[in-house]
Amino acid sequence: MTGQENANAPQSLPKVAPLLQFRNVWVEYGEKVVLERVNLEIPAGAFVSVVGPSGAGKSTFLRLILGQEAPSRGTVLFDGARMAAECGPDRGVVFQRYSVFPHLTVIGNVLFGLECAAAPVLGRLFGARRRAALAEADAMLDAVGLSSARDQYPAQLSGGMQQRLALAQALVKHPRVLLLDEPFGALDPGIRVDMHELVTGLWRDHGLTVVMVTHDIGEAFKLGTRVLAFDKRRHDPHAPQRYGATATYDVPLLRKTGDARMANVTQNTAGPAAASDHPAESA
Ligand SMILES: Nc1ncnc2c1ncn2[C@@H]1O[C@H](COP(=O)(O)OP(=O)(O)OP(=O)(O)O)[C@@H](O)[C@H]1O
Ligand SMILES: [Mg+2]
Repeated sequence: MTGQENANAPQSLPKVAPLLQFRNVWVEYGEKVVLERVNLEIPAGAFVSVVGPSGAGKSTFLRLILGQEAPSRGTVLFDGARMAAECGPDRGVVFQRYSVFPHLTVIGNVLFGLECAAAPVLGRLFGARRRAALAEADAMLDAVGLSSARDQYPAQLSGGMQQRLALAQALVKHPRVLLLDEPFGALDPGIRVDMHELVTGLWRDHGLTVVMVTHDIGEAFKLGTRVLAFDKRRHDPHAPQRYGATATYDVPLLRKTGDARMANVTQNTAGPAAASDHPAESA
């Protein structure tokens, strides 16, 4: 290597391994290919919005990260290690509906996750440990603005409040990755805006990595530091199940004071989706 080459070498910080890596990941059910050739890296701190047509495999992609689904080919790495084939406390999830337990009160729902993690056999804590867990659950309810509904049941809450509760329940276990599957899809537009502010604040305050599926393109660009689009690159009209979807677009975004602004668009015509190296994702 010449001195000139050294002088031109980037003076960047040591490269940190991405939190999530997808290496040639496929998901197949028998003859049906759902996802194919997914090659992606997601650094810690990213807010990745995932869009794409219905059936493109967006929820399947989330289930891979959650550990609910194993790839039929390829590898998913979490923090450099092969993903365990089970859901772990380092990943929290919120669905469009039904993420909370209807028979538990608001505080009971948040406490439940903590008690299960701390006392997996009995599912209950006692004495000082229970008081500490209650204090933590109450703080989480405060963070999502639900303290006043502490002793109500989910059926007594509005849709937006239920989703706040689902967020509190997911976050009280201090996950590193928060997975959101159309979390605001069933909410009125005004409520959605409130939820956007809430989730942006939680992402920042808790140093989370977020992967959010949405059908709302505006929401994807407003909230994300990066937008991934999943779609099929190849179609066989005689055998529609033959080819799966992959990340066809990978759009890193600049995000300052809550505003998202498109920086450039990568169309993945050559296979692997480009890993975003946007500063917002490594901050
Ligand atoms: N266990 C399974 N067995 C067979 N096919 C499955 C299974 N799970 C999912 N699929 C198929 O995988 C494809 C992708 O499903 P997925 O739920 O990931 O799509 P999606 O992009 O989330 O769609 P939507 O936007 O409607 O939620 C669908 O065609 C679905 O029928
Ligand atoms: Mg889905």
